[in-house]
Amino acid sequence: MSFQPEGIESVLITEDAIRTKVRELAARISSDYQGSQPLLVGLLKGSFIFLADLARALDIDSEIDFMTVSSYGNSMENSEVRILKDLAEPIAGRDVLIVEDIIDTGLTLSKILDVLAARHPRSLKVCTLLNKPSRRKADVTVHYNGFDIDDVFVAGYGIDFAQRYRNLPQLVVVRKPV
Ligand code: PRP
Repeated sequence: MSFQPEGIESVLITEDAIRTKVRELAARISSDYQGSQPLLVGLLKGSFIFLADLARALDIDSEIDFMTVSSYGNSMENSEVRILKDLAEPIAGRDVLIVEDIIDTGLTLSKILDVLAARHPRSLKVCTLLNKPSRRKADVTVHYNGFDIDDVFVAGYGIDFAQRYRNLPQLVVVRKPV
């Protein structure tokens, strides 16, 4: 990178490694959804760059929409997800693929899966670029997983550090906020 943002400790995943992984995931998704026209659902904001790259690497027809949700609470019992921006169209009978930048506790995703499953899609799957299995609190099935990572703070490629650094082309480890 041409500037040195503060708080960044190291590069975790390079641009090249991300590009290779996105192509791999896109090839699997294209093959699995042959003959279908899946709806790719990006969860904002973090997924916007991954979804843009993934969608362009697919060689099947697809549609794209976004949801914005916010979570409160940090346990299974009291976590709530509020939908700030919902999908534009019904998804009944559609093949829906949720596209996430990172799954941490899994609480956000598990609530979104419940919400979307209740709308009766034909299929409902999950694709994430990053996964932190050691942090999991909710049991969610991840169908397409880019990288398992340790419990470190990451930023870049759509993911923020106090709303900054989403535009970095690589994934970096940032210093834990104090
Ligand atoms: C991040 C990420 C996931 C969620 C994962 O979003 O994009 O949606 O957290 O965490 P969980 O598995 O512990 O629920 P964030 O709330 O940071 O919002 P953003 O995408 O707008 O940055």
